[in-house]
Amino acid sequence: MDKFVIEGGVPLKGEISIKPAKNSLLPCLAASILTAEEVIFEKSSSLSDINSMLSLLQYLGVSVSGKAGERVVLKADKISSLTAPYDLVRKMRASFLVLGPLLSRFKKAKVSLPGGCAIGARPVDQHIKGLKALGAEIDFEEGYVVAKCNRLKGADVFFDKITVGGTQNILMAAVLAEGRTTIINAAKEPEVVDLGNLLLKMGAKIEGLGTDRIIIHGVENLKGATHCPIPDRIECGTFLAAAAATRGIIKIKNCIPAHLEKFLTKLKEMGFEIQIDDASIFLNGEKDVKSVDILTAPYPGFPTDLQAQSVALLTQASGIATVREEIFESRFMHIPELQRLGADIKLEGNTAVVKGKTLLKGAPVMASDLRASASLVIAGLIARGKTVVNRIYHLDRGYENFEERLASLGAKIERIK
Ligand code: EPZ
Repeated sequence: MDKFVIEGGVPLKGEISIKPAKNSLLPCLAASILTAEEVIFEKSSSLSDINSMLSLLQYLGVSVSGKAGERVVLKADKISSLTAPYDLVRKMRASFLVLGPLLSRFKKAKVSLPGGCAIGARPVDQHIKGLKALGAEIDFEEGYVVAKCNRLKGADVFFDKITVGGTQNILMAAVLAEGRTTIINAAKEPEVVDLGNLLLKMGAKIEGLGTDRIIIHGVENLKGATHCPIPDRIECGTFLAAAAATRGIIKIKNCIPAHLEKFLTKLKEMGFEIQIDDASIFLNGEKDVKSVDILTAPYPGFPTDLQAQSVALLTQASGIATVREEIFESRFMHIPELQRLGADIKLEGNTAVVKGKTLLKGAPVMASDLRASASLVIAGLIARGKTVVNRIYHLDRGYENFEERLASLGAKIERIK
């Protein structure tokens, strides 16, 4: 298993360009199932999660051509299986997103239940509730969701809880349903809007994207389209947190600052100098900064996917911060590892109380999930001496060439195979 060896204490300095959003590409790739025509992605990514989704689509019979990380062309004209097997779904939960498009185009699908994960139980009850509202008959057999329908019928789908994946699955199911579907309490995340924009290009009729009420008028067929996924706001926030935590100076290019409004506001409240224009963000982290409290929430709230990285950053601000995790019940696996580096953090239920201005010292640590890994890398970049971050395969799921890009900013980081 690969690991990172980091010699901390170097302020990150330079420019970095943001890659396509993993969490946008994943549902958009799944949406290619909805048409027999070509769906072209002008940019893709070589992340392991993207490769897992492409493998699953190929397993279903979707032809995939092009190069990982570059232009990729998908064509679902010869679907040969309507089953997403356990081994592929278990590896990556977003595989569950093939359920909506398979069911709406082929009227049948068998998709493994994803099971729990390191950050929480992550049920899919809202996805199921939505599909049932559209008329699907759903059974659970040996760990699989077995779904069938005649043509899905538009209906009101009221989510009890805001769910990004649930909104995406129902959106993909409803675009080919008969009549009008309204998703109430829909997720407003940019990744939902990006999927919606791809579906619009494919000929879907959708109103209200980016609001909590999405209206879909079902159509008979969808056509091919060309799409360029949005830049990854979480990758952008991670680089900002890393530069800020090491007292560096960074310019982030090819990003959409509006997608990070809440996070940027928190950085400004801490006292960081930040300049924003249409597609770039400049941060100067050389000055002393103060702690702020954080509460994660669905978009446009503070992203749970930047909570772990922010905790690492807050160990360097003056004062005490409380960080409350409201989305996932056990997304604090990074805390005991940060404590190994000397962080002074107390966990009280779903709240981490982070004491600032702590001297971190290098130590071996273990990554437990994607964003926890990023948090440990940031802590390693701050810490004096050598930090070894083990199990970085988690990190490879969501950050492309992370160590090379950090090294281009001056970080002393090396991957050991
Ligand atoms: C997406 O996961 C992202 N993944 C996650 O990114 C992100 O943390 C999360 O949204 C929240 O922003 C992808 O886009 C591939 P949810 P998703 O459904 O869709 C509960 C990362 O690090 N819930 O919005 O699975 C659920 O348990 C990751 O890149 C139900 O109770 O998240 C959670 O508490 C990890 N029933 C909350 O809702 C359901 O049917 C939000 O989950 C569905 C969800």
